[in-house]
Formats: sequence, structure tokens, C-alpha cells
Amino acid sequence: MLMQTQQVRFGFIGAGAISHSSAGDVNRHANGKVVAAQDLHPQRLQELCAAQNIPRAYATADELLDDPNVDAVYIAVPNKFHVPLTIQALRAGKHVILEKPFALNYAEAQEAADVAATMGKTLTLGMNQRFERGTQSIKALVDRGDLGEIYHVKAYWFRRSGIPKLGTWFGNKQLAGAGALYDIGVHFLDLALYLLGDFEPTAVTGATYTKFGHLGLGAGGWGKSDNEGIAFDVDDFATGMLRFSNGVSVSLDISWACHAEEHNRADVQLYGTKGGALAKASRFFRPNEKTGEYLITQDPQAPIRFPHCSRFHNFINHLTVGEDLCVPIEQALAVQRILDGLNLSAATGKEVRFDEAGVALATA
Ligand SMILES: NC(=O)c1ccc[n+]([C@@H]2O[C@H](COP(=O)([O-])OP(=O)(O)OC[C@H]3O[C@@H](n4cnc5c(N)ncnc54)[C@H](O)[C@@H]3O)[C@@H](O)[C@H]2O)c1
Repeated sequence: MLMQTQQVRFGFIGAGAISHSSAGDVNRHANGKVVAAQDLHPQRLQELCAAQNIPRAYATADELLDDPNVDAVYIAVPNKFHVPLTIQALRAGKHVILEKPFALNYAEAQEAADVAATMGKTLTLGMNQRFERGTQSIKALVDRGDLGEIYHVKAYWFRRSGIPKLGTWFGNKQLAGAGALYDIGVHFLDLALYLLGDFEPTAVTGATYTKFGHLGLGAGGWGKSDNEGIAFDVDDFATGMLRFSNGVSVSLDISWACHAEEHNRADVQLYGTKGGALAKASRFFRPNEKTGEYLITQDPQAPIRFPHCSRFHNFINHLTVGEDLCVPIEQALAVQRILDGLNLSAATGKEVRFDEAGVALATA
């Protein structure tokens, strides 16, 4: 349902590292404005409001959600609070754009999606990796059939020393749900499935490792939360394999920290019968049909769906002029289901399948 007003007034819950760039992105849209923010940490809240010219600062989420001049809420807090705050915001009559990962588990995510449906409000996940111009061009080539039949997708993000600030919520299972898998793995899992155009694998296998963070090694430094000496008990390396009923496979390799030649190596590579591509690098590989000469094209030109290249602009346009949501909630749910499956497989050492309700079940 389109909003009556053309201006989408945002309330931000969470004034940490990511909220600074997110607020700038909202405010760059002619019909978007961050009018209120809230954080449990008064200084971080003041810093965000001052930096982004946000007029109202609230101490509690209740106060922000009571504000009738807030139409939509962006939630960027530790993962544990994603779903409770989303449900609270939806029940308060707000549209919600939530940070990744959706939830700690699929059951929680499903509950939030159900509340959105009941309240008739838009709920989406801000999967910013989908919006890069180069990635969108590769997506356009895939959808046009230029790669032929895609039979394998290889998604990888290796950081050599990139654990968010140690001693914060990021490294704690109770607060974050998982480590590298939920922090950066979710991005490339989502991107791989989005490019492939299929979110329904029949089986997944995963393994996770904790080799650096608990020893105080592998620190990156992302995040504004204070180091409170919170125990590190999550994965800093994760790997997985997804199988689809048509034989397609997707592999996922993710590290917050590992020994490697490069400081950072990340992309989603597509293998098709007519061509291949690297999405993040925006490179397209295929032979010239007439000469057989092998062609490698940097930044292939194709009409892209979201020229604004912004998750927030997509959300605002969706609410005001009915632009298609790039991240329908069903896709976000499917990604969460797969994350559950990878975690269960890692814990049991078994392949995981999904029942009809989407619950991950380890095979016998
Ligand atoms: N899309 C992306 O690329 C991207 C990048 C970084 C982080 N994120 C996500 O954004 C979220 C926040 O990450 P960050 O890097 O800003 O973390 P951060 O540690 O820098 O900030 C988190 C903030 O949340 C506040 N907070 C904690 N509990 C709260 C509560 N119950 N209510 C209100 N505020 C609360 C903290 O005081 C802190 O200011 C996480 O879910 C993370 O996964 C997404």
C-alpha cells in the first residue's frame, strides 16, 4: 500500500557504525528524511544526531515508536534484538527496513514476517550488496540468459584479519547468533542466491571453525560498541555447500580471520554454459561466438533495475511510488532458513534437509 505522504520520515534504532552511512543515504533521497534516532548509549546517539542533523533523540525504543511523525524504522542493533524490535515497530504501525542478519533463527524470522503481514506493513532486509552497479549489471546479464544455464555459484569472502572489534557483541553467540557466517556470510549467500534466482536448495552441508577470535587474534576493528570484554564464542571461519533439485550447487567460504596471501578477497563467481562472471568485480567471461576468441569484459553494459544503487532509495520508492522491493521478505526468510541449516549441519556433522514448514532437519 502506497503512503499518502510523499515524504518517508525515518526513525533509526541503533546509532552504531553502520547507522552513520545509512542516515546519509536516506537523507540523500528527496523523499526521505531521518527525523528521529534512539540508542541505549547517549553519547553515540548524540554523535549520530549531530553528524546527520537528526532533530529528535530518544532514550528508548518505546518513545521513538510512539512518535506519530515517524513512518518507517531502520533497525541496526546487535542481532539478538533484530526481531523483538522489528515486531514492536510493526505493531506500532511502522514500516521496517532491518539490518542483516534477519534473525537468530528461522522461527524468529517467520514470526516477524507474520506480524508484518498481519499489520499490512512493509518489512524488508537491507541487503546492500545487491545494489552495487556492477553486480546489478551481472544480474541483468544472467536474467537475459547471456550466461546460459548456471550450474555452479562460488561465493567467498576471505578476510585475513577482519573480526569486528573484539570484546563486543559481534563475537558472542547469545548476542550475535553466529560470527563470520551471520556477519558477512549472509551477504554473499544472499547475493549468490539472488544472482542465481533460486532460494530453495533441497540440502545443505556446513562446517564452522573458531581459530582466532577466542585467542584475541584476527581483530579488524569495525563497530562503535565499546569493548566490554564480552566472550568470543562464535565462528571466525565458515564453509558450506548447497544443492538444488535441478543439480545446481552453490559453495560458500567465509572468514573473519585466516592465514592468506591477500588481506581481503571477496566475490561471487557464476559458472554458466555460455559464460561466466564475477559479480563484485563486474567481469563477464565468454568466447566470441564467431571467432572463438575468449572475451573478458570489464563492466559489461546492461540495463539495471535499480539505478539509484541504494537499499534505502528502493525502500522509499517502494513506499511512495510502488517500486518493486529488491528484497522481498520471502527471500530473506529463505536465506535465514539456509543459515539455520548450515549451523545445524556444522553442529551435527550431517547433511541437512528442510521439511515443508522450512525447518532444518539433519539427515539420519
Ligand atoms: N549491511 C551492512 O553491510 C552492515 C555493516 C555493518 C553492520 N551491519 C549490521 O548493523 C547492525 C549494527 O551494527 P553496527 O556495526 O552499527 O554495530 P555497533 O556495535 O557499531 O553499534 C550497535 C549499536 O546498537 C546499540 N544498541 C545495542 N542494543 C540496543 C538496543 N536494544 N536498542 C537500541 N540500541 C541498541 C549500541 O549501543 C550501539 O550503539 C548489526 O545487525 C550488523 O549486523 C550491517
